[in-house]
Amino acid sequence: MTTRTATLQNTALALALAAAGLAAAQPQEARAVEIAISCGAVGIELELCREAAERWAAETGNTVEVVSTPNSSTERLALYQQILAAGASDIDVYQVDVIWPGILGTHFIDLAPYTGGIEAQHFEAIVANNTVDGELKAMPLYTDAGVLYYRADLLEKHGLPVPTTWAEIGQTARAVLAAEQDEGLWGYVFQGRAYEGLTCNALEWIDAYGGGQIVDADGEITVDNAAAAAALTEIAGWMADIVPPGALNYTEEESRGVFQSGNAVFMRNWPYAWALAQSPDSPVRGKVGVTTLPAGAGEGAAPTGTLGGWNLAVSRYSEHPEIAADLVMHLVSAQEQKIRAVRGAYNPTMPALYQDAEILAATPFFGDLFDTFANAVARPSRVTGDKYNRVSAAFWESVHDVLSGEADAPTALAALEGDLARIKRRGW
Ligand code: GLC
Repeated sequence: MTTRTATLQNTALALALAAAGLAAAQPQEARAVEIAISCGAVGIELELCREAAERWAAETGNTVEVVSTPNSSTERLALYQQILAAGASDIDVYQVDVIWPGILGTHFIDLAPYTGGIEAQHFEAIVANNTVDGELKAMPLYTDAGVLYYRADLLEKHGLPVPTTWAEIGQTARAVLAAEQDEGLWGYVFQGRAYEGLTCNALEWIDAYGGGQIVDADGEITVDNAAAAAALTEIAGWMADIVPPGALNYTEEESRGVFQSGNAVFMRNWPYAWALAQSPDSPVRGKVGVTTLPAGAGEGAAPTGTLGGWNLAVSRYSEHPEIAADLVMHLVSAQEQKIRAVRGAYNPTMPALYQDAEILAATPFFGDLFDTFANAVARPSRVTGDKYNRVSAAFWESVHDVLSGEADAPTALAALEGDLARIKRRGW
């Protein structure tokens, strides 16, 4: 057993003890079982997951063990692969990234017999994404799209409009920094670590310039093109002055930390950062605007946002798959999606909830940016299937090299095209 798995189990044990203490107050049924669920812990995700799972436990008399996993999607995948490859039954319900059904799907049961058809009320594209070889491998928990956060107070103070192109973000950031003369203030923060989050950011730059989706829907490798090079060159030009030096190691939470403490004019992040930026103790509360990520330049320029999001799957190695599926159906229900949307700004996966007055009051941009969420650009995970993580890793490494000045964009993209061709070999 590896150290990582052992650490997970220690955490799991501690959480299980806590859960058992809570469950002791609930009436127990003779057949009650314990279901272990792995949840994310970005923002207030873990807290929301635990509370929701405990509502189900109270209703059913079962108990839940909530296991927290690494924040980085890339590290979480590696951990899941270890546990699942061993056929371990430690975790019954897995929170899985929208890009994983093709990579992990064989380890999950078909949820279709347990849904009562409710998947028809969720975004069709997500349900299709989660369906592999005709089996519904996961139910949608929340969806995501990259958005642009800006300091509305600073733009107003300096009479600057909200940027609508990437080049304008750079220009506006430089203008604010020059006017503010504040050493602690940076222009732009994003997810620059060499991991899945950088793939999401860089896909947004490239797609905004009309440079495609790395690999197209037919499986052709398209990443080595002039629009993609122009996009990467633009952002690489920000590294020396408007981006903090540490950003090449930031994930979501590090970038949010800088922005939320008032030290950045712009931030690229997912919607969850809104609830925290607006929380009562946030230094930027009431000063933040959220809008769609901008367009690039040139012919194919268009605003965009990468499609993200998380789903729940039941392990094939679970000892209680039916009860685990019941927990999944509780967690993805409209009532639980609403709580997550209002408290944590996690995007519902049911279109009807985007009309809900309480949700729109808590997170107004869910209404304003509905089209961004509905038309977000997908990473090429469906077409590349179980090779997606290798494709993404080759991509984020190349982008990281360009941002850190180790290669220029055209050279890096030409080399990447060759790497991707080797990963593809005769087909995806
Ligand atoms: C968010 C997205 C997920 C993505 C990850 C990358 O959690 O929902 O799809 O892979 O960020 O960091």
